[in-house]
Amino acid sequence: MSEIRFDGRVAVITGAGGGLGKTYAIELARRGAQVVVNDLGGAADGSGKSHSMADVTVNEIVAAGGHAVANYDSVATPQGGEAIIKSALDNFGRVDVVINNAGILRDKSFAKLEPQDLEIVLDVHLKGAFYVSQPAFRAMKEQGYGRFLFTASAAGIFGNFGQANYGAAKMGLVGLSNVLAVEGAKNNIKSNVIAPIARTRLTEDLLGPMASALEPSTVTPLVCFLVSEACELTHEVFSVGGGRFARVFVGLTPGWFAGKGKTVAAEDVQAHLGEIMEEKNYIVPKSIGDEMRIIAKDLMG
Ligand code: NAI
Repeated sequence: MSEIRFDGRVAVITGAGGGLGKTYAIELARRGAQVVVNDLGGAADGSGKSHSMADVTVNEIVAAGGHAVANYDSVATPQGGEAIIKSALDNFGRVDVVINNAGILRDKSFAKLEPQDLEIVLDVHLKGAFYVSQPAFRAMKEQGYGRFLFTASAAGIFGNFGQANYGAAKMGLVGLSNVLAVEGAKNNIKSNVIAPIARTRLTEDLLGPMASALEPSTVTPLVCFLVSEACELTHEVFSVGGGRFARVFVGLTPGWFAGKGKTVAAEDVQAHLGEIMEEKNYIVPKSIGDEMRIIAKDLMG
């Protein structure tokens, strides 16, 4: 198996001043990538900003003989997203990889969440990834190559107490990635998602005795593969952490078809719940078209 390399490739990694993003930046640079290390440099709740976090990562890469520049813009505005991608184009002439990783937390139970807790979390995670990815997507389309990685969370995919804002934003990223996978297909642009589990400043109080086994570096190998030229996968989601790598997917069960033109009552639905819920013979649709074909088969024969 040949070594996965990023020579001649340019990677933008948001939130790469610490935690998971820092490990991605260092590993991609070690494998030859030129890296834009973006980090706003604020606190875990999204307040404040500084240059120091991005600078630390860049200094480490440069000291090891790699190529990196710092960017301190917030992902959370269209101007910030444009500026982050412009930094890649101005400094390195292209953008091949975007790892949307920047993130914050404003956890509260649903009944206690304030509108501003929703807004800032959607701004950074969901809109931020959109704002960074759109100018990158345009450049990738032109060059006929691109790799996107989005960072979701089990909190959204599976659900978690106290994270309605975060869970909604994170699941939104799965939708964003799926659409980029569909739209990018003809230009060799792949888009995938990870739901990591790692000990960082966002989670250090939550992981208990498992924390020491959940180093951010245990997430890095999957990320490195997914954003490489060797990766042919697209439209996928993975759970990763502590040495475990697993696929997460949205399946569509064969379901129950009432029959063309049949009038269905609520009681009929209740009576057929077994068939509707049955997980045997599910498919994993790669686009809306896969579902439409099934509906068409039922309706048109
Ligand atoms: P972290 O706090 O160490 O890293 C997040 C980075 O994003 C920080 O360096 C922060 O300064 C930066 N950032 C925050 N807002 C920004 C903005 N507006 N613009 C640019 N940079 C900004 O935490 P961690 O754990 O490394 O998080 C990385 C990603 O992984 C986040 O999206 C997080 O939600 C996600 N995640 C992490 C999990 C874990 O177990 N650590 C679990 C599930 C998801």
